[in-house]
Amino acid sequence: MKVKYENVSFNYNPTAALSNVSCEFDSGKTVVVAGHNGSGKSTFLKLMNGILKPTEGRVTLGEIGTEGKRTSELARLCALSFQNPDDQLFAQTVKKELRFGIDNIGGGDGLYDSIVDTFHLSEHLYSNPYALVYAMRRLVVIGATATMGTPILALDEPTAGLSIREKGYLGNLISFLKAKGTTVVIVTHDLNFLLPYSDEMLLLSHGEVQFSGGRDEFFTRKDARDVMRRSGIGYPMYARISSALDLGKTAFDAEEIVEGVGKKRAGTTRRTNGQHQLEGA
Ligand SMILES: Nc1ncnc2c1ncn2[C@@H]1O[C@H](COP(=O)(O)OP(=O)(O)O)[C@@H](O)[C@H]1O
Ligand SMILES: [Mg+2]
Repeated sequence: MKVKYENVSFNYNPTAALSNVSCEFDSGKTVVVAGHNGSGKSTFLKLMNGILKPTEGRVTLGEIGTEGKRTSELARLCALSFQNPDDQLFAQTVKKELRFGIDNIGGGDGLYDSIVDTFHLSEHLYSNPYALVYAMRRLVVIGATATMGTPILALDEPTAGLSIREKGYLGNLISFLKAKGTTVVIVTHDLNFLLPYSDEMLLLSHGEVQFSGGRDEFFTRKDARDVMRRSGIGYPMYARISSALDLGKTAFDAEEIVEGVGKKRAGTTRRTNGQHQLEGA
């Protein structure tokens, strides 16, 4: 489902958290939202599932404007996993937590099984979520959000506190949801991990949009580094490496670096061979 913000501002009286934000993401896209602390990222997500309503402007999910809609209605369109998992846990067991979405909003048993599998939660189904370590609590909350099966899923800092292995589980969930056509909007500081999964980017600084559009389009911009710096974000590791190696195309993970270096070498070899042939002719 498509997500659209038109000239959206939001004030926590009197703090202005977002100013005149406009952006649009097509159905099925994976979007990363990045920016310095306090740039308005969490506020942006809360406006998406209607916990907050714009002070000015309009947020539309598909054809439905969030203004005047109850949070319970909007929860069927957009599920949000909070920045702090402990603000969201409420059930006595992991299973009840994960089933809540299925039983009340309706992701279906197939989705429940897939998520238990993807997040390796089967051993913990009868544990009290509060008794689990932080990373597991975060996975339970993300899982419980995803089992709602909503057309839009919003995740606030989902990799915070996760190990590499658990981040891998999250990556698998994102790929699974993408294949189902879910629009996934992810607030993150972890661009190194999430850029490979993303189609679109939204960069915020002091509540204003610095960039909104395609990931690949962003990294072809000459001022990409400056825009990121203005948003208080470090330039992503693989983008730095690919530009230092002059690969001609931005890489987002180690595989793409290896591929780029391979292509560059093959190109150099061909040119060198060509020169030898010419010299020998
Ligand atoms: N409940 C609140 N009451 C008042 N101000 C808030 C509240 N939540 C956030 N803010 C302020 O709004 C701005 C944006 O916050 P937030 O959306 O949480 O940013 P981010 O998620 O990017 O760190 C910050 O200046 C923050 O201090
Ligand atoms: Mg936040």
